[in-house]
Amino acid sequence: MTDQHVMLITGGSGSIGAAVAREAASHGWSVIVQGRSADKIAALVAELQTSTEAAGIICDMWDTNAATSIMAEAAAKFGHIDAVVDCISTGRGKITGYFPDTDPADFTGFYDLSAAWFQRLAHAAYPHLKVRGGTLIAFASDAGIFASRRQTIIGAARAAVMGFVRNLAVEAARDHIRVHCISPSYVKGSDSAVKMGSERMAKAEKRAGLGLPSAEDIAPLTVFLCGPGAAKITGQVISVNGGLNA
Ligand SMILES: NC(=O)c1ccc[n+]([C@@H]2O[C@H](COP(=O)([O-])OP(=O)(O)OC[C@H]3O[C@@H](n4cnc5c(N)ncnc54)[C@H](OP(=O)(O)O)[C@@H]3O)[C@@H](O)[C@H]2O)c1
Repeated sequence: MTDQHVMLITGGSGSIGAAVAREAASHGWSVIVQGRSADKIAALVAELQTSTEAAGIICDMWDTNAATSIMAEAAAKFGHIDAVVDCISTGRGKITGYFPDTDPADFTGFYDLSAAWFQRLAHAAYPHLKVRGGTLIAFASDAGIFASRRQTIIGAARAAVMGFVRNLAVEAARDHIRVHCISPSYVKGSDSAVKMGSERMAKAEKRAGLGLPSAEDIAPLTVFLCGPGAAKITGQVISVNGGLNA
């Protein structure tokens, strides 16, 4: 049992998840990070433990009852949970590109990954967050807000997350649970940026008046939304895109 506030970050070993974990640690949170790779999680936990209480969970989101088992393991680590931030990102199938070129066989899997996974996590997290009044944060992407070509499936799945967050926020407020969605677009230095290629990133960088954000630019907002300064804010979908879209 700890006196400190406790944040669970699923996908905590990823680009954005690790930046959020470091930012939370620097603000005095106890931190639990989940990922699939035991080595990555062990290295991050060792780093975080130099400044705060930290623990790791190894679990695959496709394992049976992954959401409930992650939440049960997390709650047992430090005795309570005050914030759950979902940063999992994983394989997608053929869901980008012009719509006729996408593969319907992959549609359901992508909805499950984007929307139904977060709904399962939210369902498992709810009783834990209700105990002390906590915060739940989904990561989606600007494809759910701003229409563009070759994003039909991603856009729809991300919009589903945003709709869920806004509706849940209204309902969960009575239990003092706050719910938000953070929506990145292009994130400098992330694995996705590497996959997108330098030419596409350079074009986006030119269009973003403030410059494209890095994971470290997104982390402070995430930690703020989980903290006392945001106690009366809920149901928000916030883009962090350097002015690319508004
Ligand atoms: N980076 C961007 O440019 C960008 C843009 C728009 C939206 N976003 C969104 O922002 C969020 C975070 O993205 P990111 O760039 O930080 O992702 P990332 O660097 O690819 O990290 C992915 C995380 O998810 C974990 N993970 C992957 N597959 C998993 C599985 N099957 N079960 C459990 N955990 C699994 C990874 O763990 P292991 O490393 O152990 O596999 C890792 O911790 C995602 O929702 C993403 O869609 C990112």
